[in-house]
Amino acid sequence: MPNVTFSSPILHKNVTVYAVAGDTSTVLAVAEANKIVIPHDCRDGECGSCLIEVVTLSGKTMGSLLTEKEKSQLKSLGKITTEEIRKAEVDDIAPRFRLACQYVVRDQDILVKFSGEPGGAA
Ligand code: FES
Repeated sequence: MPNVTFSSPILHKNVTVYAVAGDTSTVLAVAEANKIVIPHDCRDGECGSCLIEVVTLSGKTMGSLLTEKEKSQLKSLGKITTEEIRKAEVDDIAPRFRLACQYVVRDQDILVKFSGEPGGAA
């Protein structure tokens, strides 16, 4: 069972929740199910407002399938490089920044940081 810990200046303290292993929920959906508000707008990888920083706490580091929309949006935000995309896809090394509406929780414990401002990772 993966633990997802949310950290943000808008939370009084870090909040750790359990996501269901094998679930296909996005980080945004897991947050919403636990009444944690990550700023978002389109929910479709196109606006960049749900930018988060992800740190792998335990379990194998995984590139975790970047969608084409996520790659292109992160690139236009200057939050991912071509080299980081290559490492994610070839070496399965997770990039630092993700979009909460696109990132599907995998079987690994992660720390999700967000600022509480649209488009601002912590
Ligand atoms: S909500 Fe728009 S990119 Fe995630």
